[in-house]
Amino acid sequence: MNNWLYSETVKDHFLHPRNFLSGDEADFAADGVGEVGSPACGDVMKMWIKVKDGKIIDLQWKTFGCASAIGSTSMLSEMVLENGGMKIETALKITPADILKKLGGLPTNKIHCSVLGDKVLRAAVKNYLEKKGEPKKKPSKIICVCLGVTERELDLSVAAGERTFAEFQRRTKAGTGCGKCVAKIEKLLAKKIDQYSDKTCCSFCKKDCPSKTSRTND
Ligand code: FES
Repeated sequence: MNNWLYSETVKDHFLHPRNFLSGDEADFAADGVGEVGSPACGDVMKMWIKVKDGKIIDLQWKTFGCASAIGSTSMLSEMVLENGGMKIETALKITPADILKKLGGLPTNKIHCSVLGDKVLRAAVKNYLEKKGEPKKKPSKIICVCLGVTERELDLSVAAGERTFAEFQRRTKAGTGCGKCVAKIEKLLAKKIDQYSDKTCCSFCKKDCPSKTSRTND
């Protein structure tokens, strides 16, 4: 394969994806299921997890995505299942940067694909916890469908001091899929920065926010 832009590790995971669901999802009998992405953007990812004693002991996934999405999710699945499975809290600490490092990098215009695995794992864990009866949090509005980025993430970004779309995008990869959400997010960001400057706190938490105390003390 000439002009292959990917590392040998990505190539290996793309050609031989680990923990890929090849059979019927019903046969896997998952404890939690997550799905992210949008067919309009090209990448859709689904993941099933089995949990025992707080550890993810098995995981399968499926995608209609590119080599980067396949490679990064395959690598993530190996990282989570290494040594008999990670504790849920540890697995949730894996970042797209950790996956990229293990893969030996990805082409810049494909980095957004590495966040899909991370997001679908979070969605599967959330589903597992909800099934277990943990109280449901009110879902936040999705502002970037391709990458599953929520308005809550934007609120937290503003509260954390980020003031540009570039900063928000660097962290969440919002807008790096089809790009249709960028103008809307930029507008919303400007509005939230205004609200944040006007009020004693951010528009997300409004009260009892640690930043409220620090702002009041400024
Ligand atoms: S909706 Fe496609 S990149 Fe945000």
